Amino acid sequence: MQDLNKLWKIFKEKYTDTGLVKGAFSAPGRVNLIGEHTDYNEGFVLPVAIDKKIVMLGQLREDRLVQVFDLVYKTKITFSLDSLSPSKKESWANYLMGVMDEIQKAGYPLQGVNLVFTSNIPQRAGLSSSAALEVVTALTMAKLNSLEIKPLEMAHLCRRAENNFVGVACGIMDQYVSCLGQKNYALFIDCRSNDYELIPLKDPNYQIIICNSKVQRGLVDSEYNKRKEECKIATEFFKHKLNREIRALRDIAIDEYEKYQAQLPEIIARRARHVISENYRVQVGVQALREGNFSAFGQLMIESHRSLKNDYEVSCAELDLLVDLALKQEGVLGARMTGAGFGGCTVNLLKRDYVDFFKEKIKKEYKKITGINPDVYLTAPSGGAKVIELI
Ligand code: GLA
Repeated sequence: MQDLNKLWKIFKEKYTDTGLVKGAFSAPGRVNLIGEHTDYNEGFVLPVAIDKKIVMLGQLREDRLVQVFDLVYKTKITFSLDSLSPSKKESWANYLMGVMDEIQKAGYPLQGVNLVFTSNIPQRAGLSSSAALEVVTALTMAKLNSLEIKPLEMAHLCRRAENNFVGVACGIMDQYVSCLGQKNYALFIDCRSNDYELIPLKDPNYQIIICNSKVQRGLVDSEYNKRKEECKIATEFFKHKLNREIRALRDIAIDEYEKYQAQLPEIIARRARHVISENYRVQVGVQALREGNFSAFGQLMIESHRSLKNDYEVSCAELDLLVDLALKQEGVLGARMTGAGFGGCTVNLLKRDYVDFFKEKIKKEYKKITGINPDVYLTAPSGGAKVIELI
């Protein structure tokens, strides 16, 4: 990624100085350690913000125009804050427009801006580059327009942008951790109450490694929405069976599931089993981390992957291969797919001494079988969205 001086130089080449407030802002991607497809079931998740991010430079304008130059695809677009509607051509622009739309709908007044942004988060790899783009846009707009928008409100606003404007029915996890992530901590989020707890994750003996399969099935959005529907069917079923308030699969205990599961259609039963058991794994996993029991946590990651593969059916051959290869290596405590699935990345927990060997082996073996060169990133829990400078 270019350094800040270089980015300002590009900014000055693209735009004339308006003389108004300007600044630089960033928002990170994320990797989810455990708790997959639980957020939209009002359950638990444990993501960390990663050290890959989007950096956005912006300056306020007198009028209501927004100009954006993006250094990833090298495209420039212009639109007005008075006519925000989804663009078919530049689909990345929808994340920005959606956020600006939601800010205005929340009653905050906006002026136009000139923007430049760049990113080192791999695209469509399950590391939430889109949430990072939403969050960095929200932060940039808030700060340049002197608006007081708290991080949690910002996360919700960005999620609404993705749900309403981009048209993806995602949960709150990605935007939440991009806003609120903290260095050296994982974020244990209760996706019903929106409370969170910081779980320390800094032990020099262990390393989190992300492996990018470099494949992405086109199925993500349609299958994602289908899973949501299936969870809804399961929730309705339990509402009728149990004599108490049931709002989501979060409310079902494992023994309740076991008692009634035979009455559910087979696929729905498996979907429900994933969500109910995954919620349990997150809570047990958090306790294991609190006690410094990384082996127990790794085991839960392995179980999580099995459940995502067999019950929720959101993995794919390449992700399964990466997990299988990882689990054969020495020093690996856990491995699983991360994010929505159907391609993208796995997350691995390793003893640090084995990191170099792991990298080399995974790259070689995965390439040998698939013909694809995977990317392997060492990562550490990083901070959430921030103001780099406001001038
Ligand atoms: C995507 C969504 C998240 C979450 C994950 C699956 O990343 O944006 O809200 O549902 O998939 O855990």
